[in-house]
Amino acid sequence: MNGRDGGFRGATGTAAVLTGLGAWLPPRRVTNDDLCARLDTSDEWIRERIGIAERRLAAPDVSTGDMAVEAAARAMASAGVDAVDALLVATSSPDHPCPATAPWVAHRLGLPQVAAFDIAAGCSGFVHACAVAAGLIASGAARRVLVVGAETMSAMVDPDDRATAPIFGDGAGAAVFEADSPHAEGALGPVVWGSDGSLADAIVVPAGGARGRHERAGAPQGDFFVHMRGNEVFRHAVRRMTHAAREAAARAGWRIDEVDRLIAHQANLRINLAVADALGIPADQVPSNIRDVGNTAAASVPLLLADACDKGELKPGHKVLLVSFGSGLAWAATTLVWPAGLAPDCENPAPPLFQGPPMTFEQVKEILTTKGGLPAAPIAPDASLASANIDSMALVVLSMQVEEGTGVEVSEDVLAQAATVAELAELVGRYAEPRA
Ligand code: COA
Repeated sequence: MNGRDGGFRGATGTAAVLTGLGAWLPPRRVTNDDLCARLDTSDEWIRERIGIAERRLAAPDVSTGDMAVEAAARAMASAGVDAVDALLVATSSPDHPCPATAPWVAHRLGLPQVAAFDIAAGCSGFVHACAVAAGLIASGAARRVLVVGAETMSAMVDPDDRATAPIFGDGAGAAVFEADSPHAEGALGPVVWGSDGSLADAIVVPAGGARGRHERAGAPQGDFFVHMRGNEVFRHAVRRMTHAAREAAARAGWRIDEVDRLIAHQANLRINLAVADALGIPADQVPSNIRDVGNTAAASVPLLLADACDKGELKPGHKVLLVSFGSGLAWAATTLVWPAGLAPDCENPAPPLFQGPPMTFEQVKEILTTKGGLPAAPIAPDASLASANIDSMALVVLSMQVEEGTGVEVSEDVLAQAATVAELAELVGRYAEPRA
């Protein structure tokens, strides 16, 4: 049940206490100007109406599960733990319709047989998953829960749709919660949440699910992309988030003027400023990272928590109000007092969990010349792949040589993203994965 004096408590009188945070963003930055090359929009419009300057997009062979692994490993390192009782992945862009992404993430993290499942609550998924973690801990079903919010929104967004393409970005954030006293700093407070399925079509991917399955083969490609009635969503977001946040603060026994920081889902800067205004929370107490990462749906709240903590915008003892909103429609809010000693692991882009052996420029050059048959002269660190004659065939040769010599796999598509030969050498190590 929800306790008024702090803590979501059940049979054990135990709360879920935040002990670790991790974040991972794909390295590829896409600016508003980059989008303008394809869409009838402008940098000015996107900045003014949404508050976004750029977003990160995952490489074609990087999935939600991959990013979840990166963020989760960092959260566990931040908490100093190497095992959990349950792993929840909040996402609206799972690797597959079936199975859930979480068991694979657990496998990749080396957490065999742990309880692992996905939470589908759209952009509100992370706060929903925090509430589920609090319930698992309060009931005694788990003592340590890893909660991940991860999204590959670029897989679901029509790059030609100016209503959605400027908004969404990819990334993953994660948190570790451990059983402790409801009065401990970092304890999740009461949860206020809800849904309105009468507006299920306000943000929807029409195809790919059980509804309309008979037409699946003939469904237009656009039906596999997100469709959104932005204006309507905007209005509901402001109303629902304001109400839920106010109610969560009240149930925690906090006056709104005691709230030090409002951490809100990063859908649109204007939405959050409107919510803060309606609540009476000054704008400078509302951290935001939407300018740099866009709307990363279920990943947005943990990415913002890690970012704001890293920048010192969240300080020990701060009363923090969390609120989120998204497709469903669904919304959730809760509270926590920011704990001391929390050190998020959120280098962006951070070194990956599975790092291949480092490869020098000279080694790459040797492979390309001896095995790839390329002339040595144009292969300089600053040379572009094209000017160094490094075509897709040369990248295949390089990736096969790396695999043979080191046992790590790196796809040629990923290598093709390097701007220079020096970057190519760096990528070999950064993206290498262990052999299954
Ligand atoms: N670039 C330039 N102009 C655009 C545009 C774009 N990307 N998208 C829409 N416009 C135009 C419209 O065509 C319209 O032009 P008109 O007045 O000549 O008809 C004008 O801008 C206003 O359109 P509107 O849809 O009312 O814009 P808006 O101010 O509501 O902003 C959103 C649109 C999508 C940014 C906004 O509604 C929003 O952020 N909603 C929340 C969506 C969200 O974050 N959902 C995620 C889940 S929480």
